[in-house]
Amino acid sequence: MSNKLVDPFGRAINYLRLSVTDKCNLNCFYCRSDPNRCTVEPSEEELTVDHYRQISEVAVALGITRIRLTGGEPLLRTDIVDIVKSIAGTTGIGDVSLTTNGMLLEKMAEELAAARLKRVNISLDSLDEANFRQITKGGRLKSTLKGIERSLQAGLVPVKLNVVLLKGINDHEIEKFIRLTLDRDLHVRFIEYMPTTGQQGKWSQYFLDLARVMEIGASVAPLQAVEGEHGGGPARYYTLQGAVGKIGLISPLSRHFCACCNRLRVTADGKLKPCLFSEDEVDLRPALGDGEKLQEKFREAMALRTDPRIAACTPGERSGQFRGKRFMSQIGG
Ligand code: GTP
Ligand code: 5AD
Repeated sequence: MSNKLVDPFGRAINYLRLSVTDKCNLNCFYCRSDPNRCTVEPSEEELTVDHYRQISEVAVALGITRIRLTGGEPLLRTDIVDIVKSIAGTTGIGDVSLTTNGMLLEKMAEELAAARLKRVNISLDSLDEANFRQITKGGRLKSTLKGIERSLQAGLVPVKLNVVLLKGINDHEIEKFIRLTLDRDLHVRFIEYMPTTGQQGKWSQYFLDLARVMEIGASVAPLQAVEGEHGGGPARYYTLQGAVGKIGLISPLSRHFCACCNRLRVTADGKLKPCLFSEDEVDLRPALGDGEKLQEKFREAMALRTDPRIAACTPGERSGQFRGKRFMSQIGG
């Protein structure tokens, strides 16, 4: 019998997302719990560098080839460079990446690249300073823009920008974002707003089908689908004729991609999540220090994977299927 992780619905798992902290230095309303607080307290018991190394080694033995570090804001961990080094040093991991809001990247990009981080995905929901500040509750657009430039210089490529599309908030900026790809080698990805914990009942207020991005893209220049591998995530890619960069679409509500789901998540306090949309969790902590037991925990999670054959449904019905009990900032996307 193969040791590799395959769930009861035949989906092979090769991608692991490790959250390293719940803490964040921004307070985006669609992600965080409490719009009046500037920081969420970190999990009491954040996993250590050694825990992440153990988890990565077991994951590789089970067929994981890609690891993404996420948060909260992962760069708030003072030992993030050590975490990267340790994971990048695990034989069998071909792709070590990180999702960040970019605020601290200007000063850390070089060091992360030297630690063998391969690439970064950077959240950027507005190109307008005032709108950025409003969405993030106090963030500085200039810091993230400098972080993007420094990441390109450090070779953390491709640099992918994540734009959560929010009706009435940033949809007037779609064209500006799309035009960024004309002369910059960036992957600008639009993400449908997901009604995660704390967001229930709001989906119709903010949700916008990404078909709108395609319409606006086509009005700028002819669009072509880009085939092939682009990192192992759920984005579909397009390019504007003559453009250097790419446009990505991540549509969890209008065109869900559960049938191709190849990933598991670990929270900063050591819970393995079989599915983003479900509340099931497997606690890895009791198994830390014992490779065999950790493997068993991963197999337990396999049995809890959600059936991807969800009946075709409208975005509204789909939004009602979200059963998580953690805020997105506690899962890491
Ligand atoms: P790569 O393709 O490897 O670059 O990564 P990615 O796009 O999976 O990672 P990233 O952290 O940048 O995620 C971008 C967005 O996609 C975030 O909003 C995630 O929440 C969302 N996303 C990623 N994976 C899933 C998934 O399995 N299900 C759903 N519904 N959304 C996901
Ligand atoms: N809907 C869609 N994307 C979200 N993210 C956080 N919360 C949501 C949400 N409610 C995204 C962030 C980041 C990624 C890790 O998850 O913008 O890019």
